Order: sequence, then structure tokens, then C-alpha cells
Amino acid sequence: MEIVIVPGPEDTGVVVADVIAAAVHGGARTLGLATGSSPLTAYAELARRCAAGQVSFTGMQAFLLDEYVGLPADHPQAYARFIRDRLVRHVDLDPARVHGPDGTAPDVLAEALRYDAAIAAAGPIDVQVLGIGVNGHIGFNEPSSSLRSRTRIKTLTARTRQDNARFFGSIDEVPHHVITQGLGTICEAGHLVLTASGSRKAAAVAAAVEGPLTASCPASVLQWHSHATVVVDEAAAAHLRDADFYRYVLEHKIGDQGY
Ligand code: F6R
Repeated sequence: MEIVIVPGPEDTGVVVADVIAAAVHGGARTLGLATGSSPLTAYAELARRCAAGQVSFTGMQAFLLDEYVGLPADHPQAYARFIRDRLVRHVDLDPARVHGPDGTAPDVLAEALRYDAAIAAAGPIDVQVLGIGVNGHIGFNEPSSSLRSRTRIKTLTARTRQDNARFFGSIDEVPHHVITQGLGTICEAGHLVLTASGSRKAAAVAAAVEGPLTASCPASVLQWHSHATVVVDEAAAAHLRDADFYRYVLEHKIGDQGY
């Protein structure tokens, strides 16, 4: 696992965009996309590079991490709509090749299984972008999620619903359930890139990177993955014990080691 500490949120976006662009240039065909605030600087940077002709997503496909149960894809807070508005419409990724679970499927349990199988059939995902919740969730794998879980229905914690209420009119409008890729599903991606910024995330980042591998901090599963990069700004890195070593590693890379 590599920990990249940069000054601020804009810088996290540049590094995540660097990782994705390098993967695309290296032949990546499939991206895994997180929603929420954390990857927005990366998505804006990718849009800029795409407009400048520096990267192209033509012919690629993408899979979302999660979706709220009960929200149709065109609902203002649906993650399908979020990714369309914040990334897809600003780059040359074919919207028909951007997939997410259907939160309005009549049988959401079957829909979760279908989505998991669709990722397995089209995958592996080459680069999976991840954010992290203040309680250590990735996707919506809340604490206690099995480290080998598959795509399924999860119940959001009160904390997560409260955190996400900022996108809705009120907390009462935040769904209680989601379909989320499982931790086992996420770990099948070739490269996991987790990004976080701000002091609110500092404890979760430290637990994920330097705490025990435990279902109590689902993001700690990155420690078990063969290729994981954690891109954080100074505020989100504030609780990392070995921050100086991570900076030293970054400054002393050999040749074109990349991320
Ligand atoms: C969203 C997702 C979540 C978020 C996490 C952090 O697709 O999977 O794990 O990444 O809740 O959200 P923000 O970035 O809004 O703080």
C-alpha cells in the first residue's frame, strides 16, 4: 500500500487523475467509480485533461460502487445521476457504458446479484476509485461488513444518513438502504485508489491505513490488497503515525516507479 500525502483537496484530484490517466494509457478498459465529494477534484481534473486531449475514455466502460434503494436513476440524488452530471457528461465516456445497480428494481436482492455478476463478467475493474466514510466505510460497506462480502443490500448507519443529508432536503429524505459492491467485489479490482481530504476523515484514514485489518473499519481491507494507493491531503493525514515515512518514500522513488 502506498500513502500519498499532498497539501490540499485539489492536489488529491491531480494525483488520482494521474493514476487513472496512467492506467488508461497503459491499456485499462474498465473503471470503478465512487460518488460523493471526495473524488470530485479528480473528476474535474480528468474533465480538464480530456478537453485538452491528454486522456480519452473512448471505448472504456465504468461501474459505480453503489446506489440508493428506491431512487430512480434520474433522481437528483441518485448516484447514477451524480456520476453523469459530475463526470460522464464532461468526458468522452459513452453514457451507455457506465453501469450502476438499479435501486428501483422490483427485486433488489436479485438486482444486487445481477450487478455483481455483471462486474465479474465485464471485469476485472482496472482502477477502482474509493472515498471513505468517517466510520471507515468504503462503498456503503458499513462497519461489520464481511471482508469478503459481495454486492448486496446494506442498511446505512444513522451517522452515514446524517452525513449524506447535506445532499438532500432533509435527513428524512435519505434512503435507509443501498445496493453496494461488497468488499470482496471491490478487492477484485486491479488497483484500489482511495482518496480523502479534510480533518473529518483523519481518524478513519489512520484506522484504515495503520489500524488492524478488521470489519470494524471496512477500509482496512485495502491492507489486504496487492495494489492499493491512498491519496490524502494534509488534514486527512493528520492522524497518521508514519506520515514522515510515507513522505520519504514518495520523495525517494526509483526511476519511473509510478503509483
Ligand atoms: C460513494 C461511496 C461512499 C463515499 C463516502 C465518502 O459512492 O461509495 O463510500 O465515498 O461516503 O463520501 P464523501 O466523499 O462525500 O465524504
